[in-house]
Amino acid sequence: ELTPAIMPSILSCDFGDMKSEVTRLTDAGAQALHLDVMDGHFVPNLTFGMPMVSGLRRHTDLPLDVHLMISEPLRYAKPMVQAGADVLTFHVEAVEDAAFVAKEFRKLGVGVGVALDSDTKLTDLEPCLDFVDMVLVMSVKAGFGGQSFNPISLEKLRLLRDNHPELLLQIDGGMNTETIVLARDAGCDLFVVGSSIIHSDDYSEAFAELDQAIKS
Ligand code: DX5
Ligand code: ZN
Repeated sequence: ELTPAIMPSILSCDFGDMKSEVTRLTDAGAQALHLDVMDGHFVPNLTFGMPMVSGLRRHTDLPLDVHLMISEPLRYAKPMVQAGADVLTFHVEAVEDAAFVAKEFRKLGVGVGVALDSDTKLTDLEPCLDFVDMVLVMSVKAGFGGQSFNPISLEKLRLLRDNHPELLLQIDGGMNTETIVLARDAGCDLFVVGSSIIHSDDYSEAFAELDQAIKS
């Protein structure tokens, strides 16, 4: 895994034209695609499931980083892996026993992430941290693109970085050329970016500006 890496979220893409969206994101320099799966239950928004993941899988060799914002992550884990997910992240708030869920995900042979919503306290992660590869720290409330960055995420990143040097740390929500630098300085490795890229006229230019910011 190459870090730091910017992982575009397809949430704000034109879902009627995903083939060319993937081409544009790949040409811009994406090293992975972040796929936001929402079930209208764990979060109020509804996006897509396995058919989108398998559809994208046919058009790209990029790693597919699947962010499950769903109430029953275990129920869909194997189908998501069969559809082509390379990394599967569940929300700690969605499950009773996060360590068990992480261990079950591991058996599927994918990278395992656990996500922490912006209003969830860091200590809720403790029981499962030995069984995950990555922690996704939400810097907005899970559910929608285009929200503004919550700096509480920076403190969580710093504490995780200090106490768990081996974990990959990912941030998601409200990333722009300023907030991405704050996250990097807090120890983050992987940066999910939605609207800053997708709502720009030129994905390559937007990607390059973010990339310069984290490498500066
Ligand atoms: C929000 C999603 C994010 C979203 C980020 O629930 O998890 O991945 O796409 O979008 P921006 O970058 O617009 O905040
Ligand atoms: Zn996400």
